[in-house]
Amino acid sequence: MLSWDDEPSTAPRANPALAGNPEGAPAAEVAKRVNADDKRIINGQTDVNQLVPFKYKWAWDKYLAGCANHWMPQEVNMQRDIELWKNPNGLTEDERRLVKRNLGFFTTADSLAANNIVLGTYRHITAPECRQYLLRQAFEEAIHTHAYQYIVESLGLDEQEIFNAYNEIESIHDKDQFLIPFINVLTDPEFKTGTLEADQQLLKSIIVFACLMEGLFFYVGFTQILALGRQNKMTGAAEQYQYILRDESMHVNFGIDLINTIKMENPQLWTPAFRDELKGLFLQAVELEYRYAEDTMPRGVLGLNAPMFKGYLRFIANRRAVQIGLDPLFPNEENPFPWMSEMIDLKKERNFFETRVTEYQTGGALNWD
Ligand SMILES: [Fe+2]
Ligand SMILES: [Fe+2]
Repeated sequence: MLSWDDEPSTAPRANPALAGNPEGAPAAEVAKRVNADDKRIINGQTDVNQLVPFKYKWAWDKYLAGCANHWMPQEVNMQRDIELWKNPNGLTEDERRLVKRNLGFFTTADSLAANNIVLGTYRHITAPECRQYLLRQAFEEAIHTHAYQYIVESLGLDEQEIFNAYNEIESIHDKDQFLIPFINVLTDPEFKTGTLEADQQLLKSIIVFACLMEGLFFYVGFTQILALGRQNKMTGAAEQYQYILRDESMHVNFGIDLINTIKMENPQLWTPAFRDELKGLFLQAVELEYRYAEDTMPRGVLGLNAPMFKGYLRFIANRRAVQIGLDPLFPNEENPFPWMSEMIDLKKERNFFETRVTEYQTGGALNWD
C-alpha cells in the first residue's frame, strides 16, 4: 500500500505493468535510466513512462504544433449556415444531399479513428514521444466528432439518420467495412507484436489509417465542403472543416514519419509480398472513395463532379504511396484541385482570430469557488 509518509525507496522499482513492454520485459531492463539510443517505436524495452531523453524529436515537435493549433467547435459562429439551411431556396437538393452524406461519413469516422488509437495502436507503440502525440491526436479526434455533432445540432438535422448513416448508406458502409478489420486486429487482446507477421500487421494497420483513412478517405468530403465555402455557402461548417483538415494533415504527416521510422528500424518487414499487399489495399481504397464520390454527387454540383475526383484520388494515392516509399500507382496524374493544396498550406490563425467568439480561460482567471 502506498503511503505518502514513506521514505522514498532508493532501489529502482521494476513494475512490468508500468513498463514499455507490459508483457514483462526482464525487471533489470525496465528499471534502468533510459538511454535514448535504446528506444524503439515498436518492441522497445525502455520505460515508456520516461518521456525524455528524446529520441524521436519529430514526434514531440508535432505534439507541440498540435497544441499550438488548438481550437474548439463552438468558437465558430454557425448563424449564417443555420439561416441558409432553413431557407427553402438557400441550397439545392444536390447540395443538401452532399452535406448530409458528408456528415454521415464524418460523424462516425472520427470515432473510429479515436478508438483505433486508444484501443489499438497506442499500446503497441513503445516510444513515449509517439505516445504523447497519439494522446493529443486522440483528443483532436474527439474535437472533430464534437465539430460534426455541433454542425448536425446547429442545422437541426435528423441525428439518428446522420449518425447511423455508416450502417444505412452503402458508400459509407463500404469504406468503414474496409477499415474495421485493421482496427480489430490491433484491439484484439491476444494480439502481440514481436513476430514478423504481427509486426507487419501492425505496420499495415498504421499505413491503412494514416495513408488511406486520414490521407485519402477524408479528401472527397473535405473538398466538397470547402467548395461550398468557396461559394460563400455554409461558411461556418467550411471553417470547421478547415481546422479539421489542418489537424488531419498533421495526423497524416505524423503517421508517415511513424511508418518510415518503423521501416528504418525494422527493414525486414518491407518484403516484396508486403508491398504488393499494400498496393492492393491502395487500389481498393481509391475505388471505394471513388464510389463515395459518385454516390454523393450523382450529378455535377458546385462545379465538381465525380469523374474529376477520379484524377484527384489517383493523385493523392500516388502521393501517399511515394511518401512511404512505394512506387506511384498511377503515374502522371495531376491535381485537378490545386486550390485544395492552398487550403492545406494556408495559415488558419488569421482567419481563426477574426471569427473566434470565446477566449480560453487563463490560469489567472480560474475561480475555485
Ligand atoms: Fe479527425
Ligand atoms: Fe485524424
